[in-house]
Amino acid sequence: MSVVVIVGAQWGDEGKGKVVDLLTERVQVVARWGGGANAGHTIVVGGKKHVTHLIPSGILRSGVTCVLGEGMVIDPQTLLSEIRTFRGAGFMSRDSDLVVSGRAHVTMPHHADMDRLREQHPEAIGSTKRGIGPTYESKAARTGVRVGDLLRPERFRKALTRDVESVAPTLERLGAPVPDLARLEKDFLAIGDQLRPFVKDASRFLHEQIRAGKNVLFEGAQGVLLDIDHGTYPFVTSSSTTAGGACAGLGVGPTVVDSVLGIVKAYATRVGRGPFPTELDDNVGQRLREVGAEFGSTTGRPRRCGWLDIPALRLATRLSGIDALALTKLDVLAGLDPIRLCVAYRLGTQTLDELPLDPDDLAAVEPIYEDMPGWDSQGPVSREEDLPPAARRYVARISELVGLPFALISMGPGREETLLKRDPFRPADGAQAGGGAV
Ligand code: IMP
Repeated sequence: MSVVVIVGAQWGDEGKGKVVDLLTERVQVVARWGGGANAGHTIVVGGKKHVTHLIPSGILRSGVTCVLGEGMVIDPQTLLSEIRTFRGAGFMSRDSDLVVSGRAHVTMPHHADMDRLREQHPEAIGSTKRGIGPTYESKAARTGVRVGDLLRPERFRKALTRDVESVAPTLERLGAPVPDLARLEKDFLAIGDQLRPFVKDASRFLHEQIRAGKNVLFEGAQGVLLDIDHGTYPFVTSSSTTAGGACAGLGVGPTVVDSVLGIVKAYATRVGRGPFPTELDDNVGQRLREVGAEFGSTTGRPRRCGWLDIPALRLATRLSGIDALALTKLDVLAGLDPIRLCVAYRLGTQTLDELPLDPDDLAAVEPIYEDMPGWDSQGPVSREEDLPPAARRYVARISELVGLPFALISMGPGREETLLKRDPFRPADGAQAGGGAV
């Protein structure tokens, strides 16, 4: 039995969905702990692309139960539409394939309206406009609506009225539509009825699965550097994206976690505003965006692209206690020469080895680069030895600078385009070098 946490070790969009899908071959439960429909995981199976915003990426494996945990904020309309899409595609045949926590908070249309209207402000942070921040605001204000309320009409009516009354002045100031309570009641109670078979106590379900010796994967959304407490505030999301957040958001103790896998893209990207020291505003950045298809799977926004940032990665690995890395999109770098690796920052007369979280310091840092030779186009390989020598040197240098091994290297979107060096769910039989393509 193993419990493994997977986190994005940058600003999100590291390719977690593919890695989770791949590792779920030996997993019985995949649970998400935070965020909501702001996430977007793209997974390619058998050449077909699947996108999920709420349901964990494990949904594409039969026999895997997917859990939406207590710490999440759930837009029930998006959830229903995902359930229908996955069922239509032949996945999720049993109701028991999905567990939705009754204590997760519900994103209501007025939350999305608040988010959208605030985003019109020139100083807005560039959110996904999915109502994530306002839903967590209602939760923290103790006025929020929870999934369990959708199953009890009287309780739902009270909770909805309480929340709308609480945010009414904000809605008015923003010029948001006045919520039609009767309509919302009717629509959301109908949705609640459809969600009823999936609603459970997720924390207790996980506890039982772990006690029964199942392999469980906790799937992070966004990236560590977008964490509300430890990220590049205020340009962050509203939930805990570090590995520690998994325990809080799922109601499990830290002692159940065996290891933490950090997913890192071979270069850096970020969507929305906020500091990004290695950002490239030139044709190399443009090339990374095009070759890497760096457009948000939730919003379609072009992602900002730049060189891999080791000081940022060091911070993320420290904040999440990451003990192994998975490298994604190595193939996107093929054809670039040189490839630049930011190994430290200069801040005045100081050299920093980790991204500073003071906003003024972060705005003032200058990346210190190490140039590495590039390699020509490269197809997927099943043994690390078959990677072009320059690609191997690049991977080895990252590992050396961060002080962590790579468990997996991904060279394309398909399951088969992967070199699995060590499966975190198979610690006993150790390295599976070569033939790792799953
Ligand atoms: P929010 O989570 O929609 O409130 O957005 C807050 C910040 O987090 C914005 O910069 C978003 O672009 C970013 N963000 C939220 N979810 C994701 C994600 O899944 N990938 C990358 N960035 C994200």
